[in-house]
Amino acid sequence: MTKRVLLIVSGGIAAYKSLELVRALRRRGVAVRAVLTGSAQQFVTPLSLGVLTEDHVYGDMFDLKEEREIGHIQLSRQADLVVVAPATANILAKMANGIADDLATTLLLATDKPVLAVPAMNVRMWHHCATQRNLAQLRADGVHVMEPDSGEMACGEYGKGRLPEPEAIADEIERLLQTPFASSEVGKPVRQPVLDTREPNGALAGRHVLITAGPTHEPIDPVRYIANRSSGKQGFAIAAAAARAGARVTLVAGPVHLPTPPGVDRVDVETARQMLAAVEGALPADAAIMVAAVADWRTADAADQKLKKDGSGQPAPLALVENPDILATLGHHAQRPALLVGFAAETQKIAEHAQAKLARKGADWIVANDVSGGVMGGDDNSVQIVSAQGIDVWPAMPKDQVADRLIDRIASALSGRG
Ligand code: C5P
Repeated sequence: MTKRVLLIVSGGIAAYKSLELVRALRRRGVAVRAVLTGSAQQFVTPLSLGVLTEDHVYGDMFDLKEEREIGHIQLSRQADLVVVAPATANILAKMANGIADDLATTLLLATDKPVLAVPAMNVRMWHHCATQRNLAQLRADGVHVMEPDSGEMACGEYGKGRLPEPEAIADEIERLLQTPFASSEVGKPVRQPVLDTREPNGALAGRHVLITAGPTHEPIDPVRYIANRSSGKQGFAIAAAAARAGARVTLVAGPVHLPTPPGVDRVDVETARQMLAAVEGALPADAAIMVAAVADWRTADAADQKLKKDGSGQPAPLALVENPDILATLGHHAQRPALLVGFAAETQKIAEHAQAKLARKGADWIVANDVSGGVMGGDDNSVQIVSAQGIDVWPAMPKDQVADRLIDRIASALSGRG
């Protein structure tokens, strides 16, 4: 069956690329119906979009003729996917706050279909804390957000905020259209359907497993942040294994470039404090596996403007404060999960440091991994499971095997066999 996209074009200089996007989608056999915001009509005409979509182009909410022919509720639900490309900072702000003051934003509020936003804007607007806050809200609401490209901007500045190439947007749209969304209600984390070919084993059926993964990014100023080399691969593999074992899985992910594993509810966050809020919001859980490489420190105050060096040779004006420890918070939480598992990336005295961490954080097990080699970002992992019962040293193996074995062990422990 032909897949249908409702394309909302908002008013930025990149709006002209929507014409190329429509062509790329039509070449792939996708039907496109377009809506232009008022300001988008300054950049592209309804006529050119109409020629390429071979359909009526919608623009004005209060055009009674259109409302009689097709109601805005109907228009918002006839597509398989709603795409906002380009998505300006303005429309993202409206979406994040549920504002519906024209046809495009009314459709976005009324739709029951998955939504993909493809932001494009000036680099400073992209890094502005208001935009980043709106994006975090949209991701938490289950909106798919594509990362903009970096490069030279139409305004002459250089940085992140360019609309990705139309072919790349079409690839992402195709990927989302191939995903038969089980539940895509806006306001809920987006759950991917279980499509994995490996046999589900049901060992965690009826359990809720909460997992953190990836790094956190702690802003320094609008263009810089503190980060680490965590790829998120091990945490995502554990989430996938838990879903295969039949658990309801909430995966709280820092900024990573990984697809959501099948059957997993994903909440995207950027900072440690957002991660903690998402973790606490997901409780209660039967087991929590904290795999994220959470930044230990954040800047005391992220600067509103880009920090400038003054050539004096003085140290950078950066005061760092400690981030909350998410694992330790859960370890001493009123709703502490029955089984709490932490990870410990160590480069030396691995078991010794892990033992100390067990007690300090109130965890049941610490999965200690030796990151002195190429573990971070690599596909293999070499771990030891440290618990009150002792230390279990596993041979080096691929991260998805570590995940399967760990989930087996968690299922046994929860059922009282471990
Ligand atoms: O103290 P360290 O960072 O080595 O501890 C690692 C473990 O603690 C991991 O499970 C990690 O996800 C978790 N952690 C956390 N919040 C922090 C720091 C670490 O949840 N702020």
